[in-house]
Amino acid sequence: MSGTERAKRAAAEAAAQLVTTGMVVGLGTGSTVRHLITALARRVRDEGLRFVGIPTSAETDALALTHGITVAEPDSTPIDLAIDGADEVERGTLRLIKGLGGALLREKIVAEASRRFVVIADASKVVTTLGDRAPLPVEVVRFGHAATARRIGELGGRPVLRREAGGAVFVSDGGNVIYDCAGFAPIRDPYTVQRDLRAIAGVVETGLFLERAESAIIAAPDGTIDTMRRG
Ligand code: A5P
Repeated sequence: MSGTERAKRAAAEAAAQLVTTGMVVGLGTGSTVRHLITALARRVRDEGLRFVGIPTSAETDALALTHGITVAEPDSTPIDLAIDGADEVERGTLRLIKGLGGALLREKIVAEASRRFVVIADASKVVTTLGDRAPLPVEVVRFGHAATARRIGELGGRPVLRREAGGAVFVSDGGNVIYDCAGFAPIRDPYTVQRDLRAIAGVVETGLFLERAESAIIAAPDGTIDTMRRG
């Protein structure tokens, strides 16, 4: 296992300890969350842990079910705790870029419905300024998406339509397309970027998660954990 993979697993296993019986738990998406699901499934099996998982993607839903985890859709009851990965974690503010895995809309719905939101990541995801290592994913409705992209371009976003490895246009779980926008970097004023993008008809959501994370469990390749808090 690579150092990065070891770090993802260490962060995920630490976060799995935050779950207690009776909780409703938002389950994020991505390779770090896959370790989380394995760790939670082990606790279900070995310790009799009981909780309901709220998956943020079809991929996580299928994985959780395979591991015997009870799942549900978000309803009007608050979610106790959401745990998710990130593509970038800004040091100090814990603002995030998410969505390189394509699940940003459902991830944001679940994060906003949660009392607590904890991020898990390997140390390479920590940045000084958002945009340092990842483009900003922007989810756009399919109808007229090229016209919407032109407007994103006018803001300086340099939008690139996301495609599958085989060349087909990537379609999100919500049936939308995603434009990866490297042009906003460095994102020194994410609130303005968020507001300007959301003001464009056709933009569904952006990968900027600005206020939600209470803490970030960051792991080094040797498995050492650093829990970062906001401020
Ligand atoms: C999914 O759309 C993303 O927001 C993921 O949470 C993010 O890409 C982190 O994924 P990894 O854990 O695979 O790096």
